[in-house]
Amino acid sequence: MTASSAPGKIILFGEHAVVYERPALAAPVTQVHADVEVADSDRPGIWINAPDIDLHAELNSLPSDHPIASVIHNFLFLSRVPRSQPLSQREKGIRFPNLEIKIASTIPVASGLGSGAAVTVALLRALSSHLDHPMTDEEVNAFAYEIEKLHHGTPSGIDNTVVTYVKPVYFVKGQPIETLQVGKPFTIVIGDTGLPAPTKDSVGDVRKLWEADKEKWEGVFDKVGEIAKKAREAIESGEWKVLGELMDQNHALLQEMTVSSPELDRLVSAARNAGALGAKLSGGGRGGNMIALVEPEKAEAVASALISAGAKRTLTTTVT
Ligand code: PMV
Repeated sequence: MTASSAPGKIILFGEHAVVYERPALAAPVTQVHADVEVADSDRPGIWINAPDIDLHAELNSLPSDHPIASVIHNFLFLSRVPRSQPLSQREKGIRFPNLEIKIASTIPVASGLGSGAAVTVALLRALSSHLDHPMTDEEVNAFAYEIEKLHHGTPSGIDNTVVTYVKPVYFVKGQPIETLQVGKPFTIVIGDTGLPAPTKDSVGDVRKLWEADKEKWEGVFDKVGEIAKKAREAIESGEWKVLGELMDQNHALLQEMTVSSPELDRLVSAARNAGALGAKLSGGGRGGNMIALVEPEKAEAVASALISAGAKRTLTTTVT
């Protein structure tokens, strides 16, 4: 049996503008994770067990664009499955091993915590190791990005990058990743609206705005990019107050991009009123999560203010 795990993630700064090559910052959230186990099996086929989403099925009974099936299909077709494995099926001339795959995840789905990327990364690692072809981080990251593209249209690649490397990153699409040096660890309270919000929709809507007035939106994305650069400096020098103000500015620009929502705005205000240094939505927006930067001793008060303002759950994490 081979096991692998991958964490959740939050985007700290720069979502949406990152799709247009501006920098963004993101960090792993290791309190939540996707766990995958792959084992040889006597039963013919590749069986997937994901009790959290009530999935118990043989690979070929699932549509090929199913988020989990597509990872396995692509992996088996695109990588060289070792010919020495016990083989049971023939499909397009390729024979596959008999496998039992168990998937469990504590990352809420479609909430901006990177659940899809985490399942993909853990699956790729477990499958490739089990089949004696362990993938490097670079291979896992590149493969996971191809999978994100299948499901999200024009993703920037930030989700798969943070989830693969499990480090806070400064990310520019298409450029080598840079790890952030955190000057002084900082505490983030995450508040979940409980409203699922497909990233593909908000990314598509921002694209429509951009297509209708490129000059205006390029200007907005530039401002977001400047905020992300300043945020990197503030993180590296441990200036929390500045970092909080930059979060507030980033949230205002996300509101302008129409990706906030009354629920997100309510949580952002509640966090600020409860003493957060700054707050913003995180990820695709419309629903999903917001984040608040807090002094550690204020974390509990901010978390309970978020619950009173309608958050379905909160999570406190320290970025180091
Ligand atoms: O909703 P999430 O956390 O997967 O984040 C999406 C981030 C976007 O910038 C909106 C899209 C992307 O591909 O980077």
